[in-house]
Amino acid sequence: RTAQAAVSTGRLPTAESVRAALDGVRRRFQEDREGEVPDYIPELAEVDPELFGIAVAHVSGNVFTAGDADHPFSIQSVSKPFVFALVNHELGRDTVRRRIGVNSTGLPFNSVLAVELNHGSPMNPMVNAGALATTALVPGASPEERWEFIRHGLSRFAGRELRLDERVYASESGTNQRNESIARLLDSYGALARDPVATTALYTRQCSVTVSARDLAVMGATLANGGVCPLTDERVVDAGVCRDTLSALATAGLYERSGDWLYEVGMPGKSGVSGGIITVAPGKGGLGVFSPRLDEAGNSVRGQRVAHFLSGALGMDLF
Ligand code: DON
Repeated sequence: RTAQAAVSTGRLPTAESVRAALDGVRRRFQEDREGEVPDYIPELAEVDPELFGIAVAHVSGNVFTAGDADHPFSIQSVSKPFVFALVNHELGRDTVRRRIGVNSTGLPFNSVLAVELNHGSPMNPMVNAGALATTALVPGASPEERWEFIRHGLSRFAGRELRLDERVYASESGTNQRNESIARLLDSYGALARDPVATTALYTRQCSVTVSARDLAVMGATLANGGVCPLTDERVVDAGVCRDTLSALATAGLYERSGDWLYEVGMPGKSGVSGGIITVAPGKGGLGVFSPRLDEAGNSVRGQRVAHFLSGALGMDLF
């Protein structure tokens, strides 16, 4: 392993040690330039690839940061576990499990083939098919009510009001043919609870919510804390929903690389194409990293390395 204290301690180390570890990891990976920014969403291709933010949020509410931890970026696929948790909380675990599933696809996040190979099953809530099917289940009488359910729900996880990035939303809406195709394919199998075009638009909005590495760390800490946001002490979802969400993340949070991720980092995690990665240490806290250069599966290269290093250095590894 690259890190020294690889054994899980059951708690985070002292504030001083966390600060030292964050400064150390930022310096260690500052010059790491491997990977490419995504080009399929024009607005994301414009980002400064050097940006690098790290945040750790403890379940007590203490937050530690290094680098560009407050720089805003769109949440993208990191929204998927949280919308899944909100929908699971509303509809119950049996309903979402039956309608979406919890097995990995072994295929890329935007695979059409995965839907076909699995006879119309969205497979799991972390790939686009499963996330679209989850978003189609969001309660609300109108598109605006359903959007507000998502925006407000994500905000409660983060402990502050989150907003839409209109530019990313417009940019992604113009290049969304593939997601719309997946939604239509699911619909053809009767696997989508609402209209495919409206569902894709709502899912795209959900992906365009603005967050920072600090927000991601707090959102992760809410999952680590049994559903109570450590900044506001507000219960967002039940503890059982957090458990279901974290097990779905362990299986498929990094898509076809989920096995490698669990082997290296030893904790549930979720990546997004804007370069955000969240890692959750149940009972301890959350880690949020922002670094825009991605590997071929769409996961932040430096984000994965930081998570691996800190998992050991902070004793967060589950195993
Ligand atoms: O649906 C998409 O393609 C994007 N809105 C989100 C994909 C994503 O973040 C995949 N993650 N690593």
